[in-house]
Amino acid sequence: MTRATVPPKILIAAAGADDRWKKAMVERLTDAKIFTQHENYDPATITHALLWKQPQGMLKSLTGLQAIFSLGAGVDHVLATPSLPTDVPVIRLQDAGMADQMVQYHLYAALHFMRDFDIYARQQAKADWIQHDVARISHCRVGVMGLGALGAAVATALTRLGFAVSGWSRTMKAIDGITTFAGSETLNEFLGQCDILICLLPRTPETEGVLNGNSLSHLPKNAAVINAARGAIIVEADLLRLLDTGHLRGAFLDVAATEPLPENHPFWDHPKIRITPHIAAETRIEESVDQIADNIARMTRGETPSGLVDRMSGY
Ligand code: NAP
Ligand code: GLV
Repeated sequence: MTRATVPPKILIAAAGADDRWKKAMVERLTDAKIFTQHENYDPATITHALLWKQPQGMLKSLTGLQAIFSLGAGVDHVLATPSLPTDVPVIRLQDAGMADQMVQYHLYAALHFMRDFDIYARQQAKADWIQHDVARISHCRVGVMGLGALGAAVATALTRLGFAVSGWSRTMKAIDGITTFAGSETLNEFLGQCDILICLLPRTPETEGVLNGNSLSHLPKNAAVINAARGAIIVEADLLRLLDTGHLRGAFLDVAATEPLPENHPFWDHPKIRITPHIAAETRIEESVDQIADNIARMTRGETPSGLVDRMSGY
């Protein structure tokens, strides 16, 4: 059914970036009325909300909403909102300039382990000049959990560089040069052949804690873990235990269960952990605004938006 073509009234709640989003939206959607959360607006008349870490309770007053857009690839923050209306579509960003950045982050992190830079950093701290054999890249098996907009781009780039790449997703995928696995029944088999494990899953009720003491023990001894997805997907105490017992070689983490990472958290000064502060891929405003504007136009024509979240699967 085509919606009435009254100009959309858009509310932006984008943490510290409201004004930059508003400027880009005003330039792209000239017929819309656009407000930031700090301006005067009538909540009942808002048709579209663009959200990233919005204030608690904000959604309750937006009684005329036609769509909610996450200003990130992840929608866990939106779906966790207690007052989220059940009948309003939630839409996520797809790539929107993030895939290239994820590729850069993971090339660096995978090479960190493959070329022993973790070992050389520890040697430098002790002024040790010891050379190790250089591994063949084709012998280094990288497994990517999550083969969506970001995981598939990372898996493809690592394959091009020469790594032996496999991927795991909920439904079966076919990607050139990559061995694929699907479903929870294949998880342990998939993990058992990963020298480097990359996690690019969304946080959902099914993926929360999926990397725990039991599943991580299926990784070969001396495997490394890279997580730039969400902290809650890994049970942090189990990861620390497997690093400390020597089963795992190291971890490269962009996310944590609590962010910012608390000052006294054991990750900060763990010799086998590298931490970055959730910077693997930032939302690019221009690309995102194009996607959001296209989706508003699609919905106005009565079409299904791209990136529509399936509330049942949580992504
Ligand atoms: P996406 O396109 O929705 O892809 C999600 C992938 O995960 C899909 O391949 C999906 O399988 C798979 N998956 C979901 N649930 C699963 C399950 N229970 N078992 C196995 N596979 C499952 O997501 P994306 O755009 O690639 O983004 C992935 C995540 O990256 C985001 O949700 C966000 O949390 C994180 N992220 C982090 C940063 C950062 O800076 N650190 C930036 C952007 C995004 P199917 O293909 O079968 O559906
Ligand atoms: C960032 O973490 C995102 O989900 O886009």
